[in-house]
Amino acid sequence: MSARLPLHLATDPAREPGSGLGTPSVSRQTSALVDSFGRHHNNLRVSVTDRCNLRCTYCMPEDVVFRDRSELLTFEEITHFVRVAASLGVDKVRLTGGEPLVRKDLHKLARMLVAIPGIRDVGLTTNGILLADQAAELFAAGLRRLNVSLDTLDEGRFHELTRRDGLARVLAGLAAAKSAGFGPIKVNAVAIRGFAEVDAVPLARFCRDQGFELRFIEYMPIGADPWERERVFPAEELLDLLGREVAPLTLAPDHDPRAPALEYVYDDRRGQVGVIASVTRPFCHSCNRLRLTADGKIRNCLFALDETDVKPLLRTTHPNTAAIAATIRRTIWAKWEGHEINSARFVKPDRTMHAIGG
Ligand code: 5AD
Ligand code: SF4
Repeated sequence: MSARLPLHLATDPAREPGSGLGTPSVSRQTSALVDSFGRHHNNLRVSVTDRCNLRCTYCMPEDVVFRDRSELLTFEEITHFVRVAASLGVDKVRLTGGEPLVRKDLHKLARMLVAIPGIRDVGLTTNGILLADQAAELFAAGLRRLNVSLDTLDEGRFHELTRRDGLARVLAGLAAAKSAGFGPIKVNAVAIRGFAEVDAVPLARFCRDQGFELRFIEYMPIGADPWERERVFPAEELLDLLGREVAPLTLAPDHDPRAPALEYVYDDRRGQVGVIASVTRPFCHSCNRLRLTADGKIRNCLFALDETDVKPLLRTTHPNTAAIAATIRRTIWAKWEGHEINSARFVKPDRTMHAIGG
């Protein structure tokens, strides 16, 4: 059976009554985080550091300069922010980086966030290098959902992509996460032409054997190196490749049309594959995400050109919860319709991926 991408499912999102062309208003005190296009935001990505122990070419420059640690939000400041966000309807949090596991004692933050009333899901995206050491304590802290970034099972190409060695450590990290009890464990791979042709099939077989869910993310213009459209390996081509070489795939019956990933199941029922077609099939119309950078800026889009500094509101003896809430609302309300990757208007943000949070 063919695994073709479904047609665009949503057209215009329902716009809030009265939200039309008016000036964003801060006085709209509803409890939900709604933007001027009617999108509800319940999903917060928290970057805990811009540092990383790899140097992936699609994410950061080789000679990257990291922020001074004093600029990073403390665990208490992050927790305060998440508590306010939870009061506005955020119920899902994902810890990202840079590489979150290079931040000392991350499990302590995980435990603090899991305990926040209203937060029903805390996940982690990691490159897996330090996972074998930390899997057990992260699980004990209450984390369950894990995304591990891994683009290839070949040591040479791992080095070419990450500018570092470490494949064996990532594999050990995945194994440790599995025995610690994490689930689901997703393996995130960036789909880049020149790599995916060779690496996708072995990765898919490995994930099927190990019970990991493989997810491909189309290569996006958010790294340091010049992005070329020709280097995006489109989700559709990928699904054709896997359907042919691994096993036939069918769109998952229970897939959520608003979710960024399109989920496919192998017809032989041995696992599933997700594709995030951010370039060839943007999902901005149903975006529910906001981001907090490690240095305390709220971003309403991965590709946003503006951001709002919330650190001064958090870094005081008595953080003003109402002011933080108003700032989050205002930033969400001002969210644009979507990224413009496919138009001539596209402008690449100054921050590269590692400084935003994946
Ligand atoms: N395009 C797509 N995905 C990217 N990531 C980092 N840079 C890019 C890019 N330019 C992914 C990483 C990781 C997640 C945090 O973001 O591979 O899975
Ligand atoms: Fe590090 Fe992730 Fe960026 Fe790679 S993609 S350099 S692992 S932050």
